[in-house]
Amino acid sequence: MSMYDDVEKILYSKETIQKRIQEVANEMNALYSDADLPLLICNLKGAFMFLADLVRYLDFRHELDFIETSSYGAGTASSGDVRFLLDVGESIKDRNVIIVEDIVDSGITLSCILERFEARHAQSVRVVALLNKPSRREIEVPIDFCGFVVPNEFVIGYGLDYDQQYRNLPFIGVLKPAVYQGD
Ligand code: PRP
Repeated sequence: MSMYDDVEKILYSKETIQKRIQEVANEMNALYSDADLPLLICNLKGAFMFLADLVRYLDFRHELDFIETSSYGAGTASSGDVRFLLDVGESIKDRNVIIVEDIVDSGITLSCILERFEARHAQSVRVVALLNKPSRREIEVPIDFCGFVVPNEFVIGYGLDYDQQYRNLPFIGVLKPAVYQGD
């Protein structure tokens, strides 16, 4: 059976995603045009596809780095236990940091990342998130640039997984509940 059979519906097509990312990039271009070499930090794995498209629309000079956090295991809800599997390779002291996230759900992951980076004395830390799911928020977190506000459904595709699969779907869709029922 194809992975496409597990998709209940498409929320955002690839064209819609590209158009919105371009708009978000333009907001960032306006704010960072004179900034001192910002550092974009992509939170793997989910944000890899968003980052790849976003940076192609950015016109300010910047550097890139990656972190990897994990909180979901194989389930559909955050475990609340955020693990840092990969950290940035250089100092972020006095840097203008932009965290690139695919989705902010409970806010627990982002809150841990922000706490960690603020303790390292970045000059500024802002957040760009492709998706925001405020209905599930447990911790208040700032999102400076946001692509879409999503309903409280389990979303997959365009980097987002269920049990490490479906990240390669070119759109953002809703997973059929039958796939994860019984977890
Ligand atoms: C997902 C997503 C965010 C986080 C959001 O990552 O990429 O980082 O969960 O959830 P929260 O707001 O409830 O903390 P996940 O831990 O599933 O790792 P992945 O990106 O490698 O899939």
